[in-house]
Amino acid sequence: QSIVLIGAPVEEGAGTAGAIMGPAALRTARLVATLADLGHRVDDRGDLMLPPSLPTAPEGMDRARHYQRIAGWSRIIADATEAAMGQGGLPVVLGGDHSLSMGSVSGVARHCAKAGRPLFVLWLDAHADFNTPATSPSGNMHGMSAAFLCGEPGLEDLLGDKPAPRLAPENLTLFGIRSVDRDERALLADRGIDVIDMRLIDEFGVSVLMARVIERVAAAGGHLHVSLDVDFLDPSLAPGVGTTVPGGATYREAHLIMEMLHDSGLVGSLDVVELNPFLDDRGKSALLLVDLVASLFGRQVVARGGGRR
Ligand code: ARG
Ligand code: MN
Ligand code: MN
Ligand code: MN
Repeated sequence: QSIVLIGAPVEEGAGTAGAIMGPAALRTARLVATLADLGHRVDDRGDLMLPPSLPTAPEGMDRARHYQRIAGWSRIIADATEAAMGQGGLPVVLGGDHSLSMGSVSGVARHCAKAGRPLFVLWLDAHADFNTPATSPSGNMHGMSAAFLCGEPGLEDLLGDKPAPRLAPENLTLFGIRSVDRDERALLADRGIDVIDMRLIDEFGVSVLMARVIERVAAAGGHLHVSLDVDFLDPSLAPGVGTTVPGGATYREAHLIMEMLHDSGLVGSLDVVELNPFLDDRGKSALLLVDLVASLFGRQVVARGGGRR
């Protein structure tokens, strides 16, 4: 199976500019060679480009900043991930801000629906990204992507005439959460979303909590999409992101999660989002992300053999 790299230099979904440089920084940090050295076939398709003519915004979209551009991005990103999966590839979408997941997960969802495979999403993030245009305090669309995917109201025209099946809210796990807005918190509770916040991680450890997620996906024979937001990590490790929140995942926790995901054999698609090289410290965050992706794709300290331990 090829790993298909899809650059998605979208930054209009974030409040701070700079994520447009994310895909370039990940390539500079040797993402392609690192994956190839692990024995993978890597198909780098370069960066997508926003088409010059953008979708028109329906009435009342002023609460979703840069709606037209995000709608344009979402459509081409969804088509690209769906195509990569249709060719049997494993899409890795290089961001770009987290609004790109509205497109990437939608493309994956369309493929899974055709293949008759249930879709599960693991959202590694400091934030829940479960705002709607009506609840968002900022209007930034990167804070709305998880809610959009679960079919929350306000952005139903985003994908135009190729809408995606909605992600079953019970198949979404938010992991690493430590910043949630007031109305967003109420919505998460109302929908019964599985929120693994830092409190739970402190109490039980990532290993127990991750094993639970992996078990559920395995039992359902599901496809697991992982959406990795740089701010999941502690800002001391990964300063290159516009929305740092103290108290994030440690180096050890992050690598263990990636190693467990690799051993599960369930991950079929990945987003790496929110890297803002303009805010980074000598490529530190980009280099860490490439190391984490390497762990997800099989880098081990000592050989442990295939499959789950
Ligand atoms: N909850 C805040 C908002 O809606 C922050 C979202 C940050 N999202 C992100 N993908 N970094 O504006
Ligand atoms: Mn398939
Ligand atoms: Mn996010
Ligand atoms: Mn975040």
